[in-house]
This record gives sequence, C-alpha cells and structure tokens, in this order.
Amino acid sequence: MRTAAWAALALTLLLAAAVRPAAAGCRRRQRTEPVPPEDMYFNHQPAPQKTLEELPKEWDWNNVDGRSMLVPSWNQHIPQYCGSCWLHGTTSMIQDRLKIVKGGIGPDVMLARQVVLNCGAFHGYGQGCDGGDVIDVVRYMKHFGLPDESCQARGGPYSATDHTKYGKAATRCPGEGYCTNCMPLKGKDTCWPVHTPIRYYLSAYGKMDEPGELGMMNEIYHRGPITCSMATHEGFDYGYHHGVARNNPNATDVDHDVEIVGWGEQEDGLKYWLVRNSWGSYFGQLGFFKIERGVNALRMEEGDCWYAIPTWQDEQDVRSGKKEGTMWGIFDKEEAEAIIPEGHRHPHFKHHDGQLAAQHAAPAEGDDDVATSWDGTVGGTYDNTPEDHPDGAVPTQQQAQEAQQALAGVQQVQAQASLRVRPFGAAAEQA
Ligand SMILES: *[C@@H]1O[C@H](CO)[C@@H](O)[C@H](O)[C@H]1NC(C)=O
Repeated sequence: MRTAAWAALALTLLLAAAVRPAAAGCRRRQRTEPVPPEDMYFNHQPAPQKTLEELPKEWDWNNVDGRSMLVPSWNQHIPQYCGSCWLHGTTSMIQDRLKIVKGGIGPDVMLARQVVLNCGAFHGYGQGCDGGDVIDVVRYMKHFGLPDESCQARGGPYSATDHTKYGKAATRCPGEGYCTNCMPLKGKDTCWPVHTPIRYYLSAYGKMDEPGELGMMNEIYHRGPITCSMATHEGFDYGYHHGVARNNPNATDVDHDVEIVGWGEQEDGLKYWLVRNSWGSYFGQLGFFKIERGVNALRMEEGDCWYAIPTWQDEQDVRSGKKEGTMWGIFDKEEAEAIIPEGHRHPHFKHHDGQLAAQHAAPAEGDDDVATSWDGTVGGTYDNTPEDHPDGAVPTQQQAQEAQQALAGVQQVQAQASLRVRPFGAAAEQA
C-alpha cells in the first residue's frame, strides 16, 4: 500500500477510535434510578462451597463428558454497533443454564434478546443500545419472561436497535416488540402480536456472595456459567487473538459484561478463565477467550458476578398436553379449540364464536374481523405489553419451589458430570 493510503487508513482508525464509545462501551456509567433493595436478589441461594483443592483443576461447560452444554454464540454489534453486552452476557448465561438444567431435553433455546432492547427501557430495565446491567435483564425476565427468538419480527431475531425506534412519544412497548406472527389473512399480509408464546422465567437470581476466584469457581462448578463485568481496553478489544489475556493496569473502566463458562491451567502453570464474549464466533477461540485467573485481571474478579436460575414451565406444559400450541400462541386445551377459526381451520381469521380469538389476535379497536398489520393504523393500540399478562407472573412461593427443583436438576447433571468428566489437557485431575 502507498504511504498516503496507509496514512488515510491510520487516520480512519484514529477517528473511529475517537468517536467510538469508550472501549466496549456497553455498561451504564450511572444508574438513573437505583435498584430497589428487594429487587437486587430473588430467592437468593448461595452455591455450595468447596475449597480450591476440592474443585477440579479444569472445568469447561463446553466439554462435559465430551458433550457441550452450551448453545451458540452471538454478535451484539451487527448490523450496527449496539452497547448491549449487558444483555448478551446475561442471556447467554441463562440459556446455557437452561440447557444444563434441562439435562438435554428438548432443542436448544435461543432467548429473544431483542425483546429486552425493545421493551426493557419502558420499565426502567436498561437503556437499550446505550447500556444496562445484568440486573436489568434478570428483573425483566422475572417479571415478564422472555420468549425465544422464533417470535421476533422486524429486522430479524436481532436488529441491534432499541426502544427509541418507537419514537419519543411511546410510553409502552408495542406488541410487536415482544412477540409476533405474520400470515396472509383475507389475502392481505398481516402481522399480529402473540400474547402467549413459550416464555422462560427465572426462579432465582442474585449477585454472588463470594467475590473472587474461589466464589466464582464454586458457582460455575455447582450451577453453571456466570456473568461478570470487566474492564476492557483497546489492546484487548482490537488486539486479542489467542492465548491467555493478561491484566493491564491501565484498564480501569468497567465497561463490559461477559459469560464465564469454566477455567483451566496452562502447562506452565498460568491459570485462566474460559470466557464467552458476544462479538461473534470469529472473535478469539470460536467466540471465547482466556484471561488470567486469580489476579483480578481486567477487574473480572471484583465481585460483580451474577447467576440466575431459569424455568421452562411453558415447555413442560406443552409437552404434557396441558397447553396446546397455535398460530396465536399456546393455550389451555379449551381455549386452543376456541381460538382456531371455524371450518377448515384455515388461518383466515373470523369472529365466529371466537371471542377468545378476538381477544388474543385482533388488537385493533374497531377493526372488523382481521388483525391489522402494524404497518397499518394500529399505532399504539396493541394490547400486548407483557404486563397485560400477569398470568406469566408465578407466585413467589411456587417460584421458590421451582428454584429448588431446578437446583436439584443441576446437581443431578453435576453429579453425573463430575463422575464422568474428562477435562482437556494433561493436568486434568479426577473431578
Ligand atoms: C499504560 O499506560 C502508560 C501511559 O500511557 C503506558 O506507558 C503503558 O505502556 C501502559 N501499560 C500497559 C500495560 O499497556
């Protein structure tokens, strides 16, 4: 390349660095509203504690008895930059834990991360692409549940946009922001909000009681991956490509959230964490990186680490036949029968006796007999914000029981895994 071209490239890079938000720039500097103390923890239960010596020398949820317990990686930065690491770091942890507690039953679940960007800010949970925290995601999931990616519409499962696309006047999340379906109705391509998709909730969440290496290892080992904040720096963002990232004392600004899925030790004795990033599967080692463990490298071990325990009641209800799935969502049996349009069960949607159908699928006031495309005139009348559906909010006592059951499930997987686990590397010891 000619010198001028190099200079131009250098200038472009410099400018890019200058306008770019600090480092990964995805965590809120300051919360505008403090989290109410009663919302900081939910059915909080610390993980069992083993000593460093009792824990295995290497642990990787990507390789438990030769099988990965993790689901695919994401890229938060496409199709444009979005400061949503807080969302990705947290939902990755939760959907991996879902796979772990389900013990391999059912297909992998990719949570509808876009929903939190669309709707969270309306409830004070995060600032969309301007940043947020783990607590915003877990609070949203606790209150409203999260569908999976199969019901996200405009812009695909992830569009790296947020609530601001609904305009300054919007005060609540439109139905399309939560879950949607589209079909031709009466010959017209039509979309409608789905009120009752398969949703995933949490039965517990909290910040880890024991900061530092040992507490983190115990939580990961006993219950699954965790989400921690860290201070990235340009050298890491643009420079990491292999091996174990080391501390950089210049990196002081905690600006990123990532999922830690295990740990290990190099042959030369260098200890590291195995971390999943949300910058595409091409970053580092298939989307993961290693970072020095035990020295609070890049402020990863300061105690801003979180766990959550997911539940999957809707899935279980469909499996057991208690709920039935339709184009309009999942329903109790009688409801499902009522909502299917009369006659040939064609999606041509009519009011017939279907008050339920009207209620569930036709959100627009004064609309005759079809749900209206949101590109039409429904503006703001979608009656589908999750808070309109308190049926999703399970009583706390039941959630506590579910948390217990979920934990029992993890312990079972854990017990099997630790019996059979064959960690990679020569230094592996019998777990
Ligand atoms: C930290 O910043 C100083 C001053 O810019 C620089 O000289 C030093 O090399 C940096 N340290 C590391 C580990 O990058």
